[in-house]
Amino acid sequence: MREHDLYERYESAFEGADDTMRRKGKRTTTRRDDAEPTRRGRMTEEEKLRVARVREDQLSTADTPEDGDRWSTWGDADQGPKPHPSWLITELAAVDRELGIVKTGKEADVFLLERAIGDRSSLLAAKRYRSNDHRMFHRDAGYLEGRRMKKSRETRAIANRTAFGRNLIAEQWAVAEFAALTRLWQIGAPVPYPVQRSGTELLLEFIGDADGNAAPRLAQTRPDEDELLDLWRQLVATLSTLAEAGITHGDLSAYNLMVHDGRLVVIDLPQVVDLVANPRGVEFLDRDVRNVCGWFAARGLPPEIGDPSALVATLLDVAGMT
Ligand SMILES: Nc1ncnc2c1ncn2[C@@H]1O[C@H](COP(=O)(O)OP(=O)(O)OP(=O)(O)O)[C@@H](O)[C@H]1O
Ligand SMILES: [Mg+2]
Repeated sequence: MREHDLYERYESAFEGADDTMRRKGKRTTTRRDDAEPTRRGRMTEEEKLRVARVREDQLSTADTPEDGDRWSTWGDADQGPKPHPSWLITELAAVDRELGIVKTGKEADVFLLERAIGDRSSLLAAKRYRSNDHRMFHRDAGYLEGRRMKKSRETRAIANRTAFGRNLIAEQWAVAEFAALTRLWQIGAPVPYPVQRSGTELLLEFIGDADGNAAPRLAQTRPDEDELLDLWRQLVATLSTLAEAGITHGDLSAYNLMVHDGRLVVIDLPQVVDLVANPRGVEFLDRDVRNVCGWFAARGLPPEIGDPSALVATLLDVAGMT
């Protein structure tokens, strides 16, 4: 799927959000209007509303599972690609429990979550995009070139950075990352399995051990000579898989690669760049390659192996762009 298609999907997702907001707005107005006591039978409209609200509150308390923080949100979310991995818990009666924070970031926070039912459980990484300070604002606007957006209320809300607009941006990044992960998973790239996306939250396969310790990022590892060469080969294979699909990471560095049991895993993909549709695609590819080659060179990879220009040329060739 090319990025254009992804953005068309955002737009249709926004249509829904718009309706929801409108409905919500209406409900609020109704409540305010009904604050004027209007007698109908023995209860005023205001009293009826108050009773309804108390009932709603009781229901929502009753709706929290005893042994968790919420019921599984699987049923209402965009779901990960099939075939589903064997560890995936799809039962709607499953319970989600938050076990702690993995990392807070500028644009998103990552939490450790356990989804469980009966005697089965799996650890997940919950990446929640924040509604402020998004890379769309402060990062290179080049990411948006080659992507289309319909002029609409949403576009204006985004441009004016209203709370609604900021939340839309956060959701847009979540949608983009989920789409990128889904696509990359399907073409066999080493990414965490994208379990689901709802609103601004992504649930991902947890990359780490069974005790909930996240795997180190490449930048935190000190591989010996053989390990370094092995990681380099994995990197070249991964970048080739991406190039074959006509894309580059867009923000690749030793911080957006994790190393789990010797296996390189690529993360943080909302800004994935289409090499053809984005007029600066080749520039982003070049930057990605140079960033990560810099790390390998600093760790002692011989320059004739880790030559960035040669790798860029290979990847452009793989992408059919030479
Ligand atoms: N699937 C995962 N399993 C385990 N840990 C993860 C997973 N995804 C992300 N993390 C951890 O959370 C950190 C932040 O994730 P990510 O890079 O996707 O978000 P970010 O908001 O862009 O953060 P940053 O600004 O630090 O790059 C990662 O460096 C990693 O330590
Ligand atoms: Mg990151």
